[in-house]
Amino acid sequence: MSKQDTHFFNVFSLVISLLVAVTVGLFALARIVASHTQNLQVLTEADYSKNVDARIHPLVQEAIAGRDNSALAIKPAEAAAAGSAAAAAMPKSGTELFDQACSACHGQGIGGAPRAGDKAAWRARIAQGKAMLYEHALKGFQGSAGLMPPKGGRTDAPDDLVKQAVDHMVQMAQ
Ligand code: HEC
Repeated sequence: MSKQDTHFFNVFSLVISLLVAVTVGLFALARIVASHTQNLQVLTEADYSKNVDARIHPLVQEAIAGRDNSALAIKPAEAAAAGSAAAAAMPKSGTELFDQACSACHGQGIGGAPRAGDKAAWRARIAQGKAMLYEHALKGFQGSAGLMPPKGGRTDAPDDLVKQAVDHMVQMAQ
């Protein structure tokens, strides 16, 4: 290395170290300033506290005898919201219910379920009459082929809708 190169190298290293020192210094200064302002602001901000409260909110609350349990009562607005959410997810027709619930098993014939549209599998079942099919779909049914759960697991579905889903499957098999 020539003398000139050594000189350049030394100056260059010095400049780089100075820049690194300045960067670290600015970073430290920013943290010190922020710890007095930003952190406090964030911690006292209403939205932030609300989110933290929501995150650390207990999953389950128990009513305790002799204490004020009024906070546990379900507020009408919340109940209505939960109700409308369930209502929105409720299928509107038998075909929709079939798509959402029944087809899980009856679509491909899972677990012994007679496959929708499979005429041979449905002939003897349809011959029992609609009343029997409705009853088995509504109340559930353990046959020789497998277990048909009540309402196909959608126990929240109204009876009429389940009957429409049965009609839909019977139609597919005719
Ligand atoms: C978890 C799987 C599963 C789901 C979901 C399911 N089924 Fe079934 N279903 C079965 C099985 C298995 C059988 C056959 C039982 C047997 O004959 O052994 C059956 C049979 C039936 C039968 C014929 C009953 C009879 O008397 O032969 C009807 C009707 C029926 N299901 C309707 C429905 C409807 C309507 C839905 C949706 C609301 C539905 N199933 C959802 C598994 C299911």
